[in-house]
Amino acid sequence: MELCVHVSDLRKSYREVHAVDGISFDLQYGRVFGFLGPNGAGKTTTIRVLTTLVKPTSGIVKIFGKDIVKHSREIRKRMGVVLQEPSFEANLRVDRALELYGLMWGMPGEKRRDRARELMEKFELVSFSNMKNDELSIGQRRRVQVAREFMHDMDLLFLDEPTVGLDPAARRTLLDYVKKHVRGGLTVFFTTHIMEEAEYLCDEIAIINKGKIIATDTPVGLKQKYGGVKAVEIKLKDSTAQSVMQIIGQIADGSVIEMTAQDTIRISSAEAQEMLVKIIESLSKNAVQIESVSMNPPTLEEVFLTVIGNGT
Ligand SMILES: Nc1ncnc2c1ncn2[C@@H]1O[C@H](COP(=O)(O)OP(=O)(O)OP(=O)(O)O)[C@@H](O)[C@H]1O
Ligand SMILES: [Mg+2]
Repeated sequence: MELCVHVSDLRKSYREVHAVDGISFDLQYGRVFGFLGPNGAGKTTTIRVLTTLVKPTSGIVKIFGKDIVKHSREIRKRMGVVLQEPSFEANLRVDRALELYGLMWGMPGEKRRDRARELMEKFELVSFSNMKNDELSIGQRRRVQVAREFMHDMDLLFLDEPTVGLDPAARRTLLDYVKKHVRGGLTVFFTTHIMEEAEYLCDEIAIINKGKIIATDTPVGLKQKYGGVKAVEIKLKDSTAQSVMQIIGQIADGSVIEMTAQDTIRISSAEAQEMLVKIIESLSKNAVQIESVSMNPPTLEEVFLTVIGNGT
């Protein structure tokens, strides 16, 4: 089966800086791959190489089954990219900017105008469509930059932190718009610092640090693997938290045990889940009644910090 993107031992160095230091991954058609990593991890460099803007130092990259160095022109025609740096023509009106972009991609007249209209509505650009780019706010400008890329049909889209500067509503609109296109067959490579976004959009996430991929899985898989500390909260019926602290302390030795309310105890531990059964058993042996139990699943944010922490 042909892969949309195949990357094998890719390296890109700028003199002594190994910006990308031997990464490998595959991306199937119609999927969203998320790249998560701290500043300077190598996300943008990877995008630059994959979009043929810079040449790799070594390694293999195949896109649509073809080598990117040998077939760059052909590959480029079928991909879109929203780079991290703002790019806009200061004096160009928003509606004209979209038109021009469609024209550059050789979109036929009617399709171009329809698409521009659709995008201006979707990305809520209508109210400032006749303003010049440099009169716009940062978030508005970013929306134009992203919308513009959808002016042409493509099979693969690279988005380098596309939601930076966007308000929550605009962010959700963008993510949903991308999702809609993914359902229509688009493949997406996406970078972000925002864990919820990665979780919302991505089928697979790679965590990159210092040029190396240090973890890769589905969002759910990552949370299971690196979930780390989980918290269990036990709410008691007719007993105070204080009165059972000792019982729980004996079982959950080494965990963080707190009273979060008069009748509620929180136990934080990597083994919280396993401990829970023992705690319930012990409480019932001591005739302590439990009102309810709740577990807080780890967030992707915690996963990220755990994995990055181990990688340094
Ligand atoms: N043109 C360049 N010349 C020299 N070094 C570079 C160049 N581009 C990137 N680097 C270095 O490569 C490393 C990776 O940079 P990159 O821009 O890929 O990080 P990033 O993961 O995109 O970070 P951010 O989250 O801040 O966007 C950094 O240490 C950076 O200084
Ligand atoms: Mg970057």
